[in-house]
Amino acid sequence: MSKIDLRSDTVTQPTEEMWRAMAEAEVGDDVYGEDPSINRLQELAADMVGKEAALYVPSGTMGNQVCLMAHTRRGEEIILEDEAHIFMYEAGGPAVLSGCQLHRIPGERGVLHPDDVRAAVRAENIHFPETTLLCLENTHNRAGGTVTPVQRMRELAEVAQEAGMNIHLDGARVFNAACAEGVDVRRITEHVDSVQFCLSKGLAAPVGSIVAGTEEFIARCLRARKILGGGMRQAGIIAAAGVVALQTMVDRLEEDHANARRLAEGIADMAPFTVDLDSVQSNIVAYDVDPEWFSAPAFLDELRERGIMANPVTPQRIRMVTHYQVDSADIERTLDSMTEVLSQW
Ligand SMILES: Cc1ncc(COP(=O)(O)O)c(C=O)c1O
Repeated sequence: MSKIDLRSDTVTQPTEEMWRAMAEAEVGDDVYGEDPSINRLQELAADMVGKEAALYVPSGTMGNQVCLMAHTRRGEEIILEDEAHIFMYEAGGPAVLSGCQLHRIPGERGVLHPDDVRAAVRAENIHFPETTLLCLENTHNRAGGTVTPVQRMRELAEVAQEAGMNIHLDGARVFNAACAEGVDVRRITEHVDSVQFCLSKGLAAPVGSIVAGTEEFIARCLRARKILGGGMRQAGIIAAAGVVALQTMVDRLEEDHANARRLAEGIADMAPFTVDLDSVQSNIVAYDVDPEWFSAPAFLDELRERGIMANPVTPQRIRMVTHYQVDSADIERTLDSMTEVLSQW
């Protein structure tokens, strides 16, 4: 029985073209700036998101953290959404590495309201930390892949400008956001000072993320990456797959979104589950499990017996993520298997 892995879009295997590019990659020592494949990836990535310069980093987490290190000084405050990845899942990095305090404000389906951000900015007062950075997440992972619309990005940028704050975008899945909105990704990134996006999620490269911003900002990120030990020598081998990811995997993301929608609509018809269909905007389907039926892990154990894998987000919430190794037949098989588990419960 073949497996269907819906745990994350990080589980994707490289495409044939990526394997070939990796085997044939021209490499050099990137700490000397001499790896042609990395340089090519960085130039292509900067151009795609409309920024002056870009830097290849090993992971999305490192990308976010080097940006925070480059933007802030110790003792400053960063505004971000209540369940932002930077707060939830980066092991306290902002406290450890940047010495910054996080000011979390709830969004609606992960989307911040400009008035709430404005109200959260600290007044000039010796007792308060200085608010110097706003972090956005688009699409928003914990909220279930929701999109901050371009118009909202613009409004948030206006608030940041009024308050003298920079904006960093955790755009791990920013190409999914652009696809969901039907816009060039630059329409999103033009509103932020820096962006981090992952090559190793929906774009299916094996390793790595990009940070992008001004030349001067990226020079500071390079130093921060060095502090974290993220200089990777002949990493052109993996960067070559990143180039293929940017060239071949962006335009197909709409397939993942269509599969997620079909999955969500099927799940919405099943009694023990509640799906907020309005929050299914990209490649993530998150839904609640009625505790009178079972817990999320108990149900997922049964599904795993049938070759289908997904993760619980909480004891009563499940997340399923579509990606290029899940096709529409896999979605139908997943729905059929879920129906079968329910009928036997
Ligand atoms: C929104 C968001 N930011 C950052 C990351 C971190 O990426 P990585 O796992 O490459 O460190 C993730 C990973 O899931 C994410 O979803």
